[in-house]
Amino acid sequence: MCGIVGYVGHRDVLPILINGLKRLEYRGYDSAGIATYNESQGINLVKTKGKMANLEVLLESSYYQESFLGIGHTRWATHGIPNDVNSHPHASNSGDLVLVHNGIIENYESIKNLLIKRGYEFKSDTDTEVLVNLIEEVKKKEQVKLGKAVQIALNQVVGAYAIAVFDINKPNEIVAARLGSPLVIGIGAESNEHFIASDIHPFIEYTKSVVYLEEGELAIVKGKKIKIRNIKDDKLKSILITELNVELEEIRKGDYEHFMLKEIHEQPKVILDTYRGRLSENKDMIKMSGLIDNKEILSKIDRIVILGCGSSYIAGLLGEYLLEDFIGIPVEVEYSSEFRYRNPIIRENDLFIAISQSGETADTLAALKLVKSKNAFTFGICNVVGSSIARLTDAGAYTHAGVEIGVASTKALMSQMIMLYMFAIHLAQIRQKLSQDKFNIYRDELLSLPEKIERALALEPAIKKIAYIYSEANNFLYLGRKYNYPMALEGALKLKEISYIHAEGYPAAEMKHGPIALIDNDMPVVVIATENENSEKIISNIQEIKARNGRVIGIIREDSKLKSLFDHAIEIPSTFDQLMPIISLVPLQLLAYHIAVIKGKNVDQPRNLAKSVTVE
Ligand code: M6R
Repeated sequence: MCGIVGYVGHRDVLPILINGLKRLEYRGYDSAGIATYNESQGINLVKTKGKMANLEVLLESSYYQESFLGIGHTRWATHGIPNDVNSHPHASNSGDLVLVHNGIIENYESIKNLLIKRGYEFKSDTDTEVLVNLIEEVKKKEQVKLGKAVQIALNQVVGAYAIAVFDINKPNEIVAARLGSPLVIGIGAESNEHFIASDIHPFIEYTKSVVYLEEGELAIVKGKKIKIRNIKDDKLKSILITELNVELEEIRKGDYEHFMLKEIHEQPKVILDTYRGRLSENKDMIKMSGLIDNKEILSKIDRIVILGCGSSYIAGLLGEYLLEDFIGIPVEVEYSSEFRYRNPIIRENDLFIAISQSGETADTLAALKLVKSKNAFTFGICNVVGSSIARLTDAGAYTHAGVEIGVASTKALMSQMIMLYMFAIHLAQIRQKLSQDKFNIYRDELLSLPEKIERALALEPAIKKIAYIYSEANNFLYLGRKYNYPMALEGALKLKEISYIHAEGYPAAEMKHGPIALIDNDMPVVVIATENENSEKIISNIQEIKARNGRVIGIIREDSKLKSLFDHAIEIPSTFDQLMPIISLVPLQLLAYHIAVIKGKNVDQPRNLAKSVTVE
């Protein structure tokens, strides 16, 4: 939640902050603000409720003098409603310090009361304003510099944070720190400038050399040098520079109207990128060093637990079917948030797989920490390279879906499902559960998927027509059996996220245990009916809907005999039952997308949501 950007160096900071915040807007868009500093203008703090567009309008009419130091923020509100006052940056009472924050300070109320007793006044309802004043108080009381004051103050707070703060008395320095929320430092090409941001996108046209701040680290960032210290014990840390492999084009919309549509259409390439380099030279094995290097451990595991949230959880559900099919050991899928608040059984022979596009989801991160504290083996399936979950897990595989900017996950989920398929057949190979002949069949089917996804994408005009017919509906039901059940959940999740239509996903057979009461002419039902096996069961479910005047949209195989059962049939290319969800995902995404566009919704930035949920 929330995006942070900062710059100190020799360039005019305002365009860097504005462009950076626009690229971070996917992280939150309740409000936005910037603070810049130069000696003659002093602090220039401009902030407003609403999206970046509002801030830009405000900036146009406000006086600004070229500055070389600044921080900016785009907010997803936690403490305090989204309004101008609660927007970041927040200044300290003296006006010397300015701070932006991503996360939650859980003990802010007690600190606030203490500061009020010492004469501090607060304008906003935020925990952030408390933090900046706590730093000011420490700085004054202890007579220390900003870096030290931040370190002492952060040791007094409980919660999660990524912060960037500057002091007008040190106008060539930003102090940044993180615990539980991501932060990355871009090292300027000429080494006399530095960038700070929640992710790499704000500065990729300036530098590809970055330092990922680790959990519990604080960085003192100047134009020419950075120092990194441990927040707990103040120890100096070594600086590890990573070279990025991302191009600016990847974060541009190109000719597409929305990032979401671009990302849906990128999926054939995403599949290629996910399996690229993962086949042995003679194509007779999957290559996944995270698995093969841990062969010993993995041959002993007798249970797999998959953790994730939202669409990543849904990917896990498909993973459950695939792993049980291929490996034949029990698999459980858990919402990360639920898992950690029970008394979960974590055993020595368990394998825990954490799935996360961003690699920063707080619930999954916290669940993972719990698992690690009990010494179980963890495997991460993440998209964002260098993300917290990727770094915390014992082994892992990146999905290489590329940057996903649309808040609704599309290509990231696709790549997670592909990764789980490869993971399952590879683990089956390692555990000698898969003959070479069978492997070859599974491999060939994997290689055929990009072309099949292209053909599914070509159905877009027909899907758009269906979207027009049903865009006025207030409710939708999505049904699917077995491998298709996760896609019923995903279809419903996508629709509600971006069109705000209430939608529910159910296992098809569960319909008769309750949801059938809802069925009438006003409740469109999307049935994912791509199975070869047990198709008579889904036929009965469709008949049950039709008997109650329900209107049914079917997602079926091109060669299916079920077409006549539906009011509208979307016929998609065929593959194994196990892989059909990968293809049926496409029409579900397109249906949700077009309904949302027809309804005039902001599909890339749906209300109340943010791309990466870094609060629990
Ligand atoms: O980054 P993650 O994969 O961990 O994110 C998990 C969920 O927050 C995410 O999938 C969310 O549900 C998306 N908005 C779904 O489209």
